[in-house]
Amino acid sequence: MKIAILPGDGIGTEIVAEAVKVLKALDLQFESEQALVGGAAYEAHGHPLPESTLNLAKAADAVLFGAVGDWKYDKLERALRPEQAILGLRKHLGLFANFRPAICYEQLTHASSLKPELVAGLDILIIRELTGDIYFGQPRGRRVAVDGHFPGAEEAFDTMRYSKPEIERIAHIAFQAARKRGKKVTSVDKANVLETFQFWKDVVTEVHAQYSDVELEHMYVDNAAMQLVKAPKKFDVVVTGNMFGDILSDEAAMLTGSIGMLPSASLDRNNKGLYEPSHGSAPDIAGKGIANPLATILSAAMMLRFSLDQAEAADRIESAVRSVLSAGLRTADIWSEGTQKVSTRDMGDAVVAAVRGASVKT
Ligand code: IPM
Ligand code: MN
Repeated sequence: MKIAILPGDGIGTEIVAEAVKVLKALDLQFESEQALVGGAAYEAHGHPLPESTLNLAKAADAVLFGAVGDWKYDKLERALRPEQAILGLRKHLGLFANFRPAICYEQLTHASSLKPELVAGLDILIIRELTGDIYFGQPRGRRVAVDGHFPGAEEAFDTMRYSKPEIERIAHIAFQAARKRGKKVTSVDKANVLETFQFWKDVVTEVHAQYSDVELEHMYVDNAAMQLVKAPKKFDVVVTGNMFGDILSDEAAMLTGSIGMLPSASLDRNNKGLYEPSHGSAPDIAGKGIANPLATILSAAMMLRFSLDQAEAADRIESAVRSVLSAGLRTADIWSEGTQKVSTRDMGDAVVAAVRGASVKT
């Protein structure tokens, strides 16, 4: 097994270091190699996704990714901005299926901004299509308008598009995932306005014919945004396009109390994947040792389960995380009265100890 480790920017380096510690504590046989990505790679090599980093990711069985981005790069031309690194990895590795679970841990029910009874036991899975839609659609650019409300004015444009096979493959993934859980898929679209999403809805409905044991519901994205805060537990698997999935997954993450708890997996057609926390690089708290490493540690667990065929090791990490939470250890983002505030490193050490079978000391 070969794992490419790409910590990136901001808190990325701190949280990935903790996840690597946890992986090493499992005594599995794996090789790993680290490389720069994002702003850090731009500083060193003049590009956010250098050839060498991309090749390392391509050659590996899985990629463990931290986060990229910093406001200080906002003025760079788009192709050189840190975000291009993650977009480039998704595109070049064909990582079209993005799994973003939103699970409310029992111990953190009170950390949510919603009433505890709305989120207690919440376990939903957002499946976001990750290599299509307006994110990658061509053409895009700037030009002088020849029509529209202001002919002759400067304008910018992007293209929203999905091909049938792109929708079919993500729909199959969603129905298959639902089969292993609550057997319900909510497909989120904007079919009332957008041709792309009427097509999305039609294709998902067609694929559903092969999954009669799974319930399919269609929902407009604006309503989905509302239902997610009104009655989030009514969802099981949500499948949607790249942009709606970006937005709804942040919203769903917040239901659980902290985006600092949520892992994600981005998979290709062969279950090779890139694993990263759902949160970003948080430059405002970088270097302070207060970031929550649990989302990255849980991403490492997803990596073991999905790409490396080590489900048992993944279980060990996940139960270790539950036991440190039960012992009352909290990083600042999930801290509440009566719990113990710990640093990024202390949290990582506690998970390592729990993985090794020690009972968690507070
Ligand atoms: C995410 C992020 C990225 C996205 C950015 C950093 C390009 O917000 O992974 O959700 O929009 O996909
Ligand atoms: Mn996002």
